[in-house]
Amino acid sequence: MLQKIHCTELYLAVGIMFYSGVVLFSAVLVGSSGSELKLPSWFQFGAGTSAFQIEGGWNASDKSESVWDRQLHLFPATLDGNADVACDSYHLWRRDIEMAEELGLDMYRFSISWSRLLPTGFSNYISEDGKRYYSDLIDGLLEKGIEPVVTIHHFDLPQRIQDLGGWANPLIADWFSSYANVVFSLFGNRVKYWLTINEPLILCDSGYTNQTVPYLDDKDIGRFLCNKNVLIAHAKAYRIYEKEYKPIYNGKVSIVNLFVWLQPATPEDKDITDLTIQYWEGRYGHAIYSKQGGWPKELENFLLEKGRSEGYPSPRLPPFTDEEVALVKGSADFYAFNHYSTRLVRKAKPGETIGSWPILGSQELGIVLERDPSWEVGDTVWFSVYPEGLRNQLNYLKETYGDLEFLITENGFFSTDPSLDDTRTVDYTWKYLEQVALAIQDGVNVTGYIHWSLMDNFDKGYSAKFGLYSVDFNDPNRTRTPRASARYYSKVTRTHCPYPEDLEQ
Ligand SMILES: *[C@@H]1O[C@H](CO)[C@@H](O)[C@H](O)[C@H]1NC(C)=O
Ligand SMILES: *[C@@H]1O[C@H](CO)[C@@H](O)[C@H](O)[C@H]1NC(C)=O
Ligand SMILES: *[C@@H]1O[C@H](CO)[C@@H](O)[C@H](O)[C@H]1NC(C)=O
Ligand SMILES: *[C@@H]1O[C@H](CO)[C@@H](O)[C@H](O)[C@H]1NC(C)=O
Repeated sequence: MLQKIHCTELYLAVGIMFYSGVVLFSAVLVGSSGSELKLPSWFQFGAGTSAFQIEGGWNASDKSESVWDRQLHLFPATLDGNADVACDSYHLWRRDIEMAEELGLDMYRFSISWSRLLPTGFSNYISEDGKRYYSDLIDGLLEKGIEPVVTIHHFDLPQRIQDLGGWANPLIADWFSSYANVVFSLFGNRVKYWLTINEPLILCDSGYTNQTVPYLDDKDIGRFLCNKNVLIAHAKAYRIYEKEYKPIYNGKVSIVNLFVWLQPATPEDKDITDLTIQYWEGRYGHAIYSKQGGWPKELENFLLEKGRSEGYPSPRLPPFTDEEVALVKGSADFYAFNHYSTRLVRKAKPGETIGSWPILGSQELGIVLERDPSWEVGDTVWFSVYPEGLRNQLNYLKETYGDLEFLITENGFFSTDPSLDDTRTVDYTWKYLEQVALAIQDGVNVTGYIHWSLMDNFDKGYSAKFGLYSVDFNDPNRTRTPRASARYYSKVTRTHCPYPEDLEQ
């Protein structure tokens, strides 16, 4: 109790000074020490999951196979285990709602399984059980005053759609948008926050470099077809919502970008860092959020030259028509993004071996990505902890695209420690939340933060422990138990004070 009062007291102190007219002094005071920061009262806290990672019930009722189901059944060695049961949220969703309530969440982010709702992949047939499952989940959340934030597509493409070319086939724009239309028509009366497609960077750039579903290897062409088709599919879904549903329900729609923040390793690396940001974020954000629309020009030219030098007769990054530019431009009501980590960018030295993670565009751009040696790492090498990166990124996005509403749809700590005493997750979370508070103070309109994840789930197997709740995957009941981070986060949601108790004494 004492700890709770700490943030409140300071908040009041600032308020009193404001009323006595010492505005400047109070502003200096708030800015002078991070430990006095608080998230605003209107700020919303959430936690997130995705269908394939938690639901299980992969063949329940009339659900059809998704690309993940197919991959893990045909090639069981792809990852460690499969998600046939996962957290069994297909059956245990009431417990999930109870956890969201225990945490005091304002929002719960989950995704809809396309192949559960539309077993044929197409909107000719809607599964009654699929419809009921999501409808019950949404109603259950609303009963507890928790806002559903619904991702329409989170990697688990129906296998049939994949067999027809998946995200490389331009027709997917119509297939996806008619699926989205079904989702809006069924749940639009109750859902106000819509996320069309999760992390297109991973979907396309990892999916077409054989690192995740659909495990295809076509980095030169497939990846860029997917890139463009994702943007058109998102925009078509957005326009359907805008025309048919927004006037009645007044909800909001965004795509979800994954954005690893990038900073130049040395002042000389500024230009190459800007190009790398275009490569990572701009290929998915610029067409939607910029005033000009279309591809980021500098990157488009760079890739055009590159493709020519490799003998490709036409641009590998497919150009937009004027009509397409107009369709995609402005097709979002806010900017949703997932943020976990930061990298330093520098030009590769002549002859230097470049990391092979093609998603990073290392070879293509001739860059090396590093972390500062002073940064902490998570339980995997790619995960470096640099909380200031989130604030820098938010300011960058505002400067680049204007004064948008921002929603952080994922942020959390990559841990492989299954214990309940997850102090590193608590540590990571408060430090990143503090940077969110600082970004708000900078004038960036961040309206919410969704922690990844509500519970442990199928990630690359079950070794990643992102959960506020642990899940016992050996127990047929998939018992969920709150970790220290769950107790911490439930305090944050109630007090809006980001600091853990031991810091406040
Ligand atoms: C569903 O999948 C499980 C394996 O996860 C299998 O044991 C079961 O027989 C399948 N059920 C049906 C109806 O195909
Ligand atoms: C993807 O990688 C796996 C495992 O490394 C390999 O067996 C498979 O042939 C690769 N697939 C493609 C399409 O390159
Ligand atoms: C931030 O965005 C929300 C939602 O769009 C809006 O209601 C609010 O007025 C914005 N705040 C500022 C300071 O612009
Ligand atoms: C699983 O749940 C059932 C029904 O609630 C209960 O009878 C059983 O003891 C539980 N099993 C375990 C291992 O907790």
